[in-house]
Amino acid sequence: MEKKIKILAIESSCDETSAAVVVNGKDVLSNVIASQIDTHKKFGGVVPEVASRMHIEVVGAVAKEAIDKANITFEDIDAVGVTYGPGLVGALLVGLQYAKALAFALDKPLIGVNHIEGHISSNFIQHKDLEPPFVCLVVSGGHTFVVYMKDYGKFEVMGQTRDDAAGEAYDKIARALGLGYPGGPKIDKLAKEGNQHAIKFPRANFHDDASLDFSFSGLKSAVLNYLNSMEMKGEEVNKADVAASFQKAVVEFLVDNAMRACKIKKVNKIAVAGGVASNSCLRNTLINRGRENDIEVLFPEPILCTDNAAMIGSAAYFEFLKGRVSSMELNAVPNLKLGQR
Ligand code: KG4
Ligand code: ZN
Repeated sequence: MEKKIKILAIESSCDETSAAVVVNGKDVLSNVIASQIDTHKKFGGVVPEVASRMHIEVVGAVAKEAIDKANITFEDIDAVGVTYGPGLVGALLVGLQYAKALAFALDKPLIGVNHIEGHISSNFIQHKDLEPPFVCLVVSGGHTFVVYMKDYGKFEVMGQTRDDAAGEAYDKIARALGLGYPGGPKIDKLAKEGNQHAIKFPRANFHDDASLDFSFSGLKSAVLNYLNSMEMKGEEVNKADVAASFQKAVVEFLVDNAMRACKIKKVNKIAVAGGVASNSCLRNTLINRGRENDIEVLFPEPILCTDNAAMIGSAAYFEFLKGRVSSMELNAVPNLKLGQR
């Protein structure tokens, strides 16, 4: 019988402290998430120092809860997986130090995981039969990538943002509209009441037509300029129309590049990952465009889209299978690149 590998995974790269127990990279026995959103909301965004302190306060209890909910003991786990980058350095260090101490005390292997690889891996939990190669669109608060996953642990970045991440753009526009933090879900909801053709916002134009890169800062400025000019003229802003028109511009950019990546690589599968993968307009547009082009579009359920440790446990398992175990010298790497080891 195949041995069941149980990995306890820890995630603390931003504003969620999470611990999970995942079997063979796909079966989630527990996935505990302590979100700090209510605290950071007051500041309109994540305050790094506050995030680190809050991770320290709860990381031990969150890990214990993950073990208890999985109905196992710490001794039952086969390895400890942990996010070591990219992310906020202070926040990463908390999870990493905890994971190292645990791995050392239990005499179990430590497996450092790239947070972005974790996001991609969330699709292996959701879609048990999924196997590389496929194109993955990673869209979160900190990252925007079109990636070709050739094999487990093998990634080719085909396009990425040159400035703001997609989620970051959502958060900034939501703030300008007075919708609060995090802005993505709020714009998603408000846009349903608006007309996406009401205002024509521009898409970044690169000189290189073949580029699959993104840029959202020009779009952000265009929305802010529109809001300012309306205020100067004393005209009332239809926030739902702004939300819908902004969202259309973001989603079309993401979907076009993801589709082009599939054509280039001749694959008929796109997996989406990251917090913005919960966006209803992105989901619908990708599914429709996928249908037209014979491309299967896969999403994780929302709880696996935003930061969580189950996705880290999944990515750690595929590293474990390749014998890639980290040393106790492992340090946090705030700007860790995809595929970098
Ligand atoms: O993956 P995630 O939890 O954290 C990072 O690794 O960055 O993503 C959080 C981001 C935030 O910017 C949030 O506004 C965005 O995901 N988000 C959404 C939606 N839900 C979360 N953006 C658009 N539509 C949504 N429904
Ligand atoms: Zn993330």
